[in-house]
Amino acid sequence: MIKQGLLAITCAAILIGCGDNKTSATTNQVVQNVEQNKTEAKQTISYASKCASCHGEKGEGKAGFPKLAGQSEKQIADKLNGYKNGTYGNERKNIMIPQAKALSNEDIAELAKTISKF
Ligand code: HEC
Repeated sequence: MIKQGLLAITCAAILIGCGDNKTSATTNQVVQNVEQNKTEAKQTISYASKCASCHGEKGEGKAGFPKLAGQSEKQIADKLNGYKNGTYGNERKNIMIPQAKALSNEDIAELAKTISKF
């Protein structure tokens, strides 16, 4: 009964458009953003969104962008760490260094695992 009453009041408020609509839309947006941030915080960087544009959907490589498919998890992780700390790199390393520096250790572990399965 109480629930129904509340529902009726809510509906009435929406129907009347007493000005709360805007507030509740904003509140919903905030709640949505918080939920989204929670999901993003849990996720590591995705290969598809951060790497595929240069290295290809399946790490097949493109002109000027090396093939990653076929390398082991360790090889990929070592190279990414190498770009980060300056111990690895070829003639186009300046493109890759900022990409690698943006990765956390967890990102590198996760990406290396993903790429080694291509
Ligand atoms: C803007 C284009 C670009 C993006 C985006 C990019 N890379 Fe690269 N990547 C390169 C280039 C160019 C090289 C070759 C650099 C060199 O000469 O050492 C490279 C090299 C590499 C290598 C070493 C390959 C080898 O065998 O020497 C790895 C591993 C790698 N990238 C992984 C990644 C990962 C993982 C991402 C996503 C987080 C990524 N790259 C995003 C351009 C890019």
